[in-house]
Amino acid sequence: MEAKSPLGAQSSIGPIDHYLADLHQRIAGVTDGEIATYIPELARADPETFGIAIATVDGRVYTVGDADHPFTIQSISKAFVYGYTLAEYGRDFVLSHIGVEPTGEAFNSIVLDEVHNRPYNPMVNAGAMAAAELIKGDTPEARIATMLGTMSKHAGRSLHIDESVLRSEQATGHRNRAIAYMMLNSGMIHSAPETILDIYFRQCSVRVSCTDLAVMAATLANDGVNPLTGETALDRDYIQDVLTVMNSCGMYNYAGQWSYEIGMPAKSGVAGGIIAVIPGQIGIGVFSPRLDAHGHSVRGVRVCAEISETFGLHVF
Ligand code: DON
Repeated sequence: MEAKSPLGAQSSIGPIDHYLADLHQRIAGVTDGEIATYIPELARADPETFGIAIATVDGRVYTVGDADHPFTIQSISKAFVYGYTLAEYGRDFVLSHIGVEPTGEAFNSIVLDEVHNRPYNPMVNAGAMAAAELIKGDTPEARIATMLGTMSKHAGRSLHIDESVLRSEQATGHRNRAIAYMMLNSGMIHSAPETILDIYFRQCSVRVSCTDLAVMAATLANDGVNPLTGETALDRDYIQDVLTVMNSCGMYNYAGQWSYEIGMPAKSGVAGGIIAVIPGQIGIGVFSPRLDAHGHSVRGVRVCAEISETFGLHVF
């Protein structure tokens, strides 16, 4: 457990470290939930792995437990790719391709907004694939580099793809293939589904740690400027859009209850990561692989709930 200054120097152990150590110890006792197995490689995770990181907008990072343990970002990537599309194309164009309406359904539901001929929102798989289609680059490699570059800027370091998880997802992602082909059929996407799926699977397979997630979340909390590097990862004009959609749709069919009780824009991933953002203050990254029925880390939800309550961080 340590607090790092923006320059990486250690600071002495303070009250936040003690709070996090106690929180980690208590919530480590929670063993509910199941590891995701539909992507076979994810089933290899150690269920006891558990890390928490908090990054502040002024560049302090507090960590406890397995905060540097690597795992794949999965659906948390959707928030950052959505931000990229807004910055590249503007709000009107993106809105004409991807809605902002919660589905009340699971992340992988095969339900599309046929009235507006677009996926409902960018946080479910369908909308994330429509966003992935918009990633620019002259070649497939260049588009992957664009995607990795966007996420790396938010994390403040170069992120890479976990090739084993990628292969596992490519081998089993038939439901996502079905969604992509349905979107092609109705004109919601326009290019070869396999090309889009490849980018989407790769963005989900980017390897991160809790510390990375906290810094990525803190970058959103800090108007798009990475608090460790000072680099702008996302134009501040689009932060409100990303956080609003995270708030209404980031936790899928649990988003309403999450918002009601915990009150932080958030995004979860099926490997067991969660980010939560308190605008102007902090980013939280939590990882523990046992999931609830909605596909969210059980310990991750508990950690965010406790932090929200203890520090009065419900944004409303
Ligand atoms: O497409 C999928 O099913 C996964 N790559 C991502 C799903 C996910 O992370 C859902 N979130 N909790």
